[in-house]
Amino acid sequence: MNTVTTIPGPRGLPVIGVGNRLLRDPLEFMIRLHRHYGDLVKLPLGKRAMYLAVHPDMVKRITQENWRNYIKRYPAMDELLGQGLVTSNGEHWLRQRRLMQPAFHHQRIARMAAVMTEEAERMLTRWEEYARRGQPFEVQTEMMLLTQQIIVRTMFSSSLSEAEAQAIGKAFNDTLNWAAGQQFRLVQPPRSWPTPGNLAYRRNLDLLERTVYRLIDERRQRHGDYDDLLEMLVTARDAETGEQMAPKQIRDEVMTIFLAGHETTAGTLSWIIHLLSHHGDAERKLRAEYASVLGGRTPTPSDLPHLPYNRMVIDETLRLYPPTWILSRVMVGPDTLGDYELPAGSVIALSPYVTHRHPAFWPNPESFDPERFQSTATATRHKFAYVPFLAGPRQCIGNSFALMEMQLVLPMILQRFRVSAVPGYPVRPMPKATLRPGPEVWVEVRKTGSSMG
Ligand code: HEM
Repeated sequence: MNTVTTIPGPRGLPVIGVGNRLLRDPLEFMIRLHRHYGDLVKLPLGKRAMYLAVHPDMVKRITQENWRNYIKRYPAMDELLGQGLVTSNGEHWLRQRRLMQPAFHHQRIARMAAVMTEEAERMLTRWEEYARRGQPFEVQTEMMLLTQQIIVRTMFSSSLSEAEAQAIGKAFNDTLNWAAGQQFRLVQPPRSWPTPGNLAYRRNLDLLERTVYRLIDERRQRHGDYDDLLEMLVTARDAETGEQMAPKQIRDEVMTIFLAGHETTAGTLSWIIHLLSHHGDAERKLRAEYASVLGGRTPTPSDLPHLPYNRMVIDETLRLYPPTWILSRVMVGPDTLGDYELPAGSVIALSPYVTHRHPAFWPNPESFDPERFQSTATATRHKFAYVPFLAGPRQCIGNSFALMEMQLVLPMILQRFRVSAVPGYPVRPMPKATLRPGPEVWVEVRKTGSSMG
């Protein structure tokens, strides 16, 4: 067995290692590292190192076979997410996951479908106006508003005002991007210093907390009449101890769900719109499927199994542009990955973006080809070669929610509009907290059936 010192990788600069290149162009850099050095790459970062594990066998080992040995450590997120499901570990995480799992059960999510389609309807009414005026618009802003409204209503039943939702959305984005950026930063000024970044972070966090505590408070006084995520958080009891969650714990979970539950989906929907505007063949196939199954009506959860191509387009988009493009774990004890023995304390990076482009599992990996997700192809592929929601006990708790949302919204958009990209706005992946298309995605819409344009 080889030791950690022989894991191949670039040397990088003295002091900072490859930190600057990871910050500058992480996607391209990681792909090149994988091609050059193989399935486990050592990334020197100053005095420390991080190991990028790409092979699906390693993903399986880390997320499933030996998952307890790989814990999360996201100090930059502590203040924002506290001991919520995304950032906690050990017994605390397990108890919370058990408490929250029933709320994300497929049948429960199906009851939220009406909120999803109502909010999509509201968005499309706005789009009618854009179409009438021939006015281009930035599609990601629209998708963020949509997915925020959906998560807010499924969590709190009542919508915040549009202005409030926008302010909160912006505060979440700025805070999340700032906190995520801290993970790669070599020099971090203490939070108490009045740097512009720290001050903006504090302002945003204050706004978020004020809003979230207000909503929790209202519900604790008036619970019993609701069928939403907050009701579940407020009333859930531990099966063994009968204990309920303290307000701070509810706050942490609300922040976590809000944060994990909308930007990811908004980014993916925006990517789909962008990809379809460049792949007329896929768009035609989708329209034919919608016409034969839905004939123009709004989809319901029971339609979704009859819309396989709809799902394949979503899966292929999540392969090419997984919102969670990188994540990390710290090893509690030693373990073997591939041919190498790694010691306790090693920091491991997993990148669905890179694993989803592994040439041994994905021929022609850069091309957009939904047929890869035909059931026959999926059945024979390594299960851990495709992990947009990760895998194992810590896989995304919201995956059914996200998939349902996207599968309902996409047919609603395409049955009503033809969407085309506005020339002059090149789009590329923006590896921030999530992998969004950017800098902006400008589109024009026109009603289907209209002969103009
Ligand atoms: C396209 C949409 C989404 C993608 C690609 C996605 C992806 C992921 C991934 C990769 C993880 C694992 C992160 C890690 O272990 O480091 C995760 C965890 C999580 N996600 Fe999602 N997610 C999506 C949507 C959602 C939604 C809609 C919700 C909630 C409504 C949600 C809530 C969570 C939570 C709470 C966790 C932590 C689970 C745990 O550790 O037990 N996600 N997600």
